[in-house]
Amino acid sequence: MSKDFTHSVVILIISIVVVSAMSLLVWVVPNVLTSSDLKKDSLAKRLTPLQLAGRDVYISEGCHVCHTQLVRPLEPEIKRSGRANKESDDIYEHPFLWGSKRTGPDLTNVGLKYSDEWHIYHLINPRNVVPSSIMPSYPWLFEQTLSGEDIGKKMEVLQFLGVPYTQAEISDARLEVRGKTKGEALVSYLQSLGVDTSMEVLK
Ligand code: HEC
Repeated sequence: MSKDFTHSVVILIISIVVVSAMSLLVWVVPNVLTSSDLKKDSLAKRLTPLQLAGRDVYISEGCHVCHTQLVRPLEPEIKRSGRANKESDDIYEHPFLWGSKRTGPDLTNVGLKYSDEWHIYHLINPRNVVPSSIMPSYPWLFEQTLSGEDIGKKMEVLQFLGVPYTQAEISDARLEVRGKTKGEALVSYLQSLGVDTSMEVLK
């Protein structure tokens, strides 16, 4: 059998470089060039320190493993979960929490849906409000309190990545978070989801 390109490491490496360079050109470069337009169009608001602490609870408890935050522009999906995501919604999201598995409903716009009390009852035991729910219970979130020690540092990192936190917001952050339960922070984060972009739908 004659040798073809799959037998040459050199050709393989060159092909990988060519294909990667193409992806860079088509996906990455246009995004870098349009990022200032995205900021201009965006309705996104930066999270408050308590909401940011809640987002970390969301990540550490693995909520994103069962829940997406990405409504695609398809009619059935919009009817179920509300306004479809736009690229400009996520300019302050580091890292993205789009998710990939939909064991539970999409949470992109959940902030407009329930009261704080509903969320608390639901998180303590989802069967309290949805008898057939398979979502795990998280009662300890309302027993464990946050010290707020690291929230300022986190905000500094986000500021470095382009989230416009002011120095005053960063220095006051610890006081806003200290003594709050993880559950309070999480509910405050959930209640923020989709609220900033909802103005567009109401217009
Ligand atoms: C094992 C998968 C799973 C995990 C992990 C999970 N959920 Fe759920 N979640 C579900 C399912 C299924 C439902 C639908 C039934 C219900 O409302 O309880 C749901 C419903 C919800 C709802 C109501 C959504 C709506 O539109 O009615 C919220 C809010 C929610 N989850 C938040 C969370 C948060 C916050 C976490 C992490 C602390 C979490 N979930 C972890 C599976 C999960």
